[in-house]
Amino acid sequence: MTVNRKRIKSRPAAVLIGFMGAGKSTVGKLVAELLGVDFVDADEEIVRVVGRSIPEIFAEDGAPAFRDIERRVVLDLLTRGGVVSLGGGAVMTTAIADALAEHRVVYLSIDPAEGYARAQGSDRPLLAGEDPETRYRELLNERHDTYAGLATVAVDAGAGSAEQVADAVRAALADYLIPERNFP
Ligand code: S3P
Repeated sequence: MTVNRKRIKSRPAAVLIGFMGAGKSTVGKLVAELLGVDFVDADEEIVRVVGRSIPEIFAEDGAPAFRDIERRVVLDLLTRGGVVSLGGGAVMTTAIADALAEHRVVYLSIDPAEGYARAQGSDRPLLAGEDPETRYRELLNERHDTYAGLATVAVDAGAGSAEQVADAVRAALADYLIPERNFP
């Protein structure tokens, strides 16, 4: 199988994108273990850097301020090694989407019903209003093409346990990782 690797930078080993509820953090951690590299979750890094929770940042500073912090944190993480999971909306920031064109990007796709079942009841600010399920479906519809367009590989996050999904990610990435010996 011929794979065009020319555009891919050597680090991070993989960047996980996808919508809320796809399991990016859980699966990302497992993929990192399988690859023997570090794992970092962009949302956790934002919370660490800012010293406040994501709902607090949205409530106190507003969504544009959150996206600004997210852009800076994610662009920095993309210069490091390991496996990186991004928050579901990060790809909608042009500078992040542009930067991802040079990385191994895994789109963890999720069926809307399954994804919403997993995401509901959380403290995610974008699902805080009335009728969060409709909002969830609308946002997923808005973003799906962007996720798909940025993906080096796509894996169905609803197909099995987190361990099985992580193994499917590892297998899907194999063609892209084997020739690269300089990560993390
Ligand atoms: C967001 C997703 C969240 C978090 C923030 C905004 C989004 O991350 O970054 O609440 O716009 O979809 P998860 O995808 O990890 O829930």
